Amino acid sequence: MSITNRLSQTAPDPQVLPAPSAGAREAAGAAAATEPVRAGSQHLIHTTPGISTKSERTDMTPHESQTSHHQTRVDTTFDHFHDLYAVRTLGLKTSPVRALFAVANRPEVVSLAGGMPNIADLPLDVVGDALRELIGTRGTQAMQYGSGQGEPEIREGICQVMSVEGIDADPDDVTVTCGSQQALDLVTRIFCDPGDVVMAESPSYVGALNTFASYQAEVIHVGMDEQGIDPQSLREQVSRARRAGKRVKFLYTIPNHSNPSGISQSEQRRRELVEEARHLDLLIVEDNPYGLLNLDGDPLPTLRSMSPDNVVYLGSFSKTFAPGFRVGWALAPRFVRERLVLAQESATLCPPVFSQFAVSTYLTHWDWRKQVRVFIDMYRERRDAMLSALAEHMPEGTTWTRPSGGFFVWLTVPGGLDSAAMLPRAVSDLVAYTPGTAFYADGRGQENIRLSYCYPTPERIRVGVDRLAGVMRRELDIRTTFGVAASSGPHPRDMGPGPDSV
Ligand SMILES: Cc1ncc(COP(=O)(O)O)c(C=O)c1O
Repeated sequence: MSITNRLSQTAPDPQVLPAPSAGAREAAGAAAATEPVRAGSQHLIHTTPGISTKSERTDMTPHESQTSHHQTRVDTTFDHFHDLYAVRTLGLKTSPVRALFAVANRPEVVSLAGGMPNIADLPLDVVGDALRELIGTRGTQAMQYGSGQGEPEIREGICQVMSVEGIDADPDDVTVTCGSQQALDLVTRIFCDPGDVVMAESPSYVGALNTFASYQAEVIHVGMDEQGIDPQSLREQVSRARRAGKRVKFLYTIPNHSNPSGISQSEQRRRELVEEARHLDLLIVEDNPYGLLNLDGDPLPTLRSMSPDNVVYLGSFSKTFAPGFRVGWALAPRFVRERLVLAQESATLCPPVFSQFAVSTYLTHWDWRKQVRVFIDMYRERRDAMLSALAEHMPEGTTWTRPSGGFFVWLTVPGGLDSAAMLPRAVSDLVAYTPGTAFYADGRGQENIRLSYCYPTPERIRVGVDRLAGVMRRELDIRTTFGVAASSGPHPRDMGPGPDSV
């Protein structure tokens, strides 16, 4: 049965997600399919560099097609501006897999692909009251331009949040950003010229890899084990790059519950890493959106708390409150902070004052620590559902990480399966995931899959894992019957996921 038929014949399941598109877009940016994807019975979508893509409804009456404002005719034209785009944007391209994930976003598909936080447990009445009060008492200030560094009151609130993880910070060293994604962008902007090197975990966050690529920085992946980054691998890679005349700008790391691997660095490893970075005279960029979502115990000390002078720390309210406000931050040594503020001013003039006031009002009106514990209980149940479903269903030879927090489990699939090539088959079987190729800058990751447990209910997670295991079994059977097909080779990492990438 074709994907189209399967999808259209499957009744929507009321239990499933309302299907926003973030996960789809992330995964869309992640995979590397090259074939046109037939996304629904009426749309045939091709993507070719330099050629714009529109879709056509072929089943409309002439009257419908004349009156519909939403439908477009097939109109494949050359992008008139193609030769004008900056070189640094040439690697940014949309993916045909976006079309596939438009399908995968349907409610009958269990998406284990995106990393959207589940914010259903937020006290919307409290947030609503706080926002009403904010408008009533400081409405004009909240809707006015503000400071390029961010408003003092939210910077103080941010310092209180960071103190839970043992960071002793001065609000003056904090720069507020539009999500920590923008902090990543600003840090890269102020440090990286084309050709400069960023050291990153293997695998690493797709949104960061895209940012590094958009500044034409070269990413060198550093070896990891279950304790986190291997300091010896870091030393070797940095030394080799420097011997080759490359300028190594910083190490990018997610020490807590990494996206995508779910791995957390042990405390001992953190100390070794900080020591090694000092020895190498290497700046660390510590990205920590998941630090407070420790499902099994207390947070471990941050790298910033171990080495305040050598770490730029990035934080976010996206996972502990709500991503829609887009409030994140960078805590940086003073000289770096000065440049970050200048970069922020040139990018946005100032981060949105309304969002900053909204978040600081939430922090003062609500027991946000208790709210984080509510989130932790909810995510723990989902994590446990995923781990037990994996143990129950996965084919022999599959291995996976056991995250102590965050949103993600990282699978290594057996028998030479290719996770990117398998994705269309999985979506046709009503389950979606993010292929591992999204998380490497060097074409690795075919044998890996990132599964997220943050958004679907435990029940849906179990259904999704069962379906995925079925797809893998069939692929393995085909390989056993017909032999291993010629490898599709390394996959170029696909750029340009939307918010995702989370
Ligand atoms: C590791 C990591 N860093 C940064 C971000 C960006 O988050 P935000 O911009 O919402 O703060 C994400 C989003 O999922 C992430 O997983």
